Amino acid sequence: MAQKTASKTAPITSPLSDQDREITGKVLQGTLLDLIDLHLVAKQAHWNVIGKFFRSVHLQLDELVSSARGFADDVAERAAALGVSPDGRAATVAEGSGLPKFESDWRDDREVIEAIVSALESVIRRLRARIDETDKTDLVTQDLLIAIARDLEKAHWMWQAQLAD
Ligand SMILES: [Fe+2]
Repeated sequence: MAQKTASKTAPITSPLSDQDREITGKVLQGTLLDLIDLHLVAKQAHWNVIGKFFRSVHLQLDELVSSARGFADDVAERAAALGVSPDGRAATVAEGSGLPKFESDWRDDREVIEAIVSALESVIRRLRARIDETDKTDLVTQDLLIAIARDLEKAHWMWQAQLAD
């Protein structure tokens, strides 16, 4: 049996150059943290919302939970396919997510809607910057980020529409 050498080669090869892989990997890792946190915030809100519109907000939050969770998986697996190890651990999310803080305890339905609108705004803002960043490094990743942005911008509209008087 061949002896293992001391130098460790990357177990997953990448179709990208080292430089493009590094930039794209960072973009995907940052997006992963935002999406995991968005899923956690939406679940927290799902459990803690109270008020006249409890039922519709409670149900709509679970739709956001599933899309954020599904996209987080797509993003993590895209990173893996590029030879970049995704890190979705709780401590990494707590340290690196860019979402505004969501307060604990029962939350009034309107307050929840406002918090979700602002969480979506912050995720979308960074997502759009990351779409620009991947323009020269990896169009396949960019395509995935565009699909995520399209869905989250639709969700943003639907949440914001409920705030109109
Ligand atoms: Fe539930």
